[in-house]
Amino acid sequence: MRHEKLEIDYQVFSSIDELEPLDKELALEAIKAQAGSYAPYSGYNVGSAIRLSSGRIVTGSNQENNASPAGLCAERTAMFYAHAHWPDEPMEEIAIAGGPGFTLDDEPATPCGQCRQVMAEFQSTGKRPFAILMVGKREIWKFGKVDDILPFIFDGYKPK
Ligand code: THU
Repeated sequence: MRHEKLEIDYQVFSSIDELEPLDKELALEAIKAQAGSYAPYSGYNVGSAIRLSSGRIVTGSNQENNASPAGLCAERTAMFYAHAHWPDEPMEEIAIAGGPGFTLDDEPATPCGQCRQVMAEFQSTGKRPFAILMVGKREIWKFGKVDDILPFIFDGYKPK
């Protein structure tokens, strides 16, 4: 046997103003999209914004439900909307901003496992890295590809 070690490379920024212009725009769109969040149960409001290959920006927010599993995270709301309307425009980057009561957490909100899996799908079909920008008040984290937040992605089943 042998031991293996994984290293994750990501960038940490201490303010939105430190971001390059396209990232800053996407971060601000995610924060703006928080306004559409429907989260009467958790009180945790999340906005997300995706930049497609065309430069188009698509946004989403979390939509909760009294029967909780029926609700959906901000990231999947935006990804499914984007893919439903512009399936031929690969997703290049997604920004996520969340916090209680329409505020922004100090630490970035990190996507749940199901959202990471859906990101992996669209990274695979888009045939290019899908970057993730997690926006907090004190820190912003940027990951270059989904593999960095979902190691050992399952990509074995190839539909015919
Ligand atoms: N949520 C998101 O929309 N995205 C995340 O990255 C984390 C969690 C939502 C799900 C639920 O509506 C609320 O935040 C609390 O978990």
